[in-house]
Amino acid sequence: MATGRGGFSSKLGVVLATAGSAVGLGNIWRFPYITGENGGGAFILLYLAVILFFGIPAMMAEFCIGKTAKANASKAFEIIAPGSKWYIVGLIGVIVAVIILGYYTVVTGWTLEYLFRSVLGDLQGKSVLEYSNMFDDFTADPVRPILWTAIVVFISYLIISKGVQNGIEKASKVMMPVLFIVLIILAIRSLMLPGAAAGMKFLFYPDFSKLTLQSLLDAVGQVFFSMSIGMGCMITYSSYFKKNVDLIKTSASVASIDTLVAIISAIVIFGTMFSFHMQPDEQGPGLVFKTLPNIFQQMSGGIVWALLFYILLFIASITSIISLLEVVIAYINETWHLSRIKSSRIVSAITVALGVLSALSFNLLSFVKIGGMGLFDFSDFITAKVLMPLGGIAMAIFIGWRMGREEVKNEITNMGKYPVAIYKIYMVLIRFVVPIGITAIFISSLLPH
Ligand code: PHE
Repeated sequence: MATGRGGFSSKLGVVLATAGSAVGLGNIWRFPYITGENGGGAFILLYLAVILFFGIPAMMAEFCIGKTAKANASKAFEIIAPGSKWYIVGLIGVIVAVIILGYYTVVTGWTLEYLFRSVLGDLQGKSVLEYSNMFDDFTADPVRPILWTAIVVFISYLIISKGVQNGIEKASKVMMPVLFIVLIILAIRSLMLPGAAAGMKFLFYPDFSKLTLQSLLDAVGQVFFSMSIGMGCMITYSSYFKKNVDLIKTSASVASIDTLVAIISAIVIFGTMFSFHMQPDEQGPGLVFKTLPNIFQQMSGGIVWALLFYILLFIASITSIISLLEVVIAYINETWHLSRIKSSRIVSAITVALGVLSALSFNLLSFVKIGGMGLFDFSDFITAKVLMPLGGIAMAIFIGWRMGREEVKNEITNMGKYPVAIYKIYMVLIRFVVPIGITAIFISSLLPH
């Protein structure tokens, strides 16, 4: 079963590839504005608590499933619980990956457009309104964003078709260090700007009066999305882990890297914004594609900073996209028995087709609404806010109540390397805290507020 599937060659490769999946648009684009909306410092503390009590245990649960079964997200359940309906949890995960791919590749396409424009010197000499119009005009164009999406998928295809070790692992080993270096350079630059301290005060001074029930929901959604959990991505990656990979260490390292990148990105963005007297209240795409270009142009050497920033965003996104693709490729490869290359081609084609739909939801298809949302927003909502938390609950129940005790114990304690007490604490978290906690939060998220 294990032979012929390939796998990550080293522990460093495991951490960098897994962190590559986790670190993405969620950290650099989503985390800063969600933190901004929830009042800064206090939200970060809440976020850290959610990582610790829900995020890391849920990630370890997925690792446990994938590493034991050595199969794709759906088949893994079939192997551990043959004859049951649990495989559906994995199958939904594969579908979630496809939906996320559909809009994630479009946003990554936007970063390429902006990268390109910063090279051409197009991100200079414009007014606030002109930047805003520039973004709106670009997304209203029915052709250009689709071309960029296709390019993004093609680049990802070139990497992923080379396989787990020569594709994913190698690319992560090159891209992740570059990402860290670029991020650190941007953070230093941002902290040196006059007035950046006000941004840091906003970011780190905890004002608990800003926290609401909604903040808790935001934190959970953000943690699931950012850590790539609840949809089988971590099952898929851990199916390529060697026997000796330590699940506690790996999940702690990945969670730390992911959180650090999110916080440093927030430092970059808030330091820069406050220095130019802008408030971080503009949301989502607007923050990174409308507001930041305007700020960059006011900085000395602005083009370079803009270029570096969009390179950062692009690299972070690509490593996440290849992990999403891998979820689907591994599934098609092992379920339909098609070669890896063929599977990669099919998945890439599906991704481009969905990307076309979500890109068109900003123009030709803007009349299509599901529950009052456009296709793009709906995809984000149904995955991050509904299906991923549900998947997280299901996987926690699977590990806590269904999978063999001894197997779980061996994986968690790394064959007895860690004391049994750790396993016992873990069981309390995964049997009770994670499913009950997320269910409570999930239900309240469905209630009108
Ligand atoms: N974690 C990625 C990010 O933060 C997104 C992602 C979600 C990737 C699910 C894979 C699986 O951008």
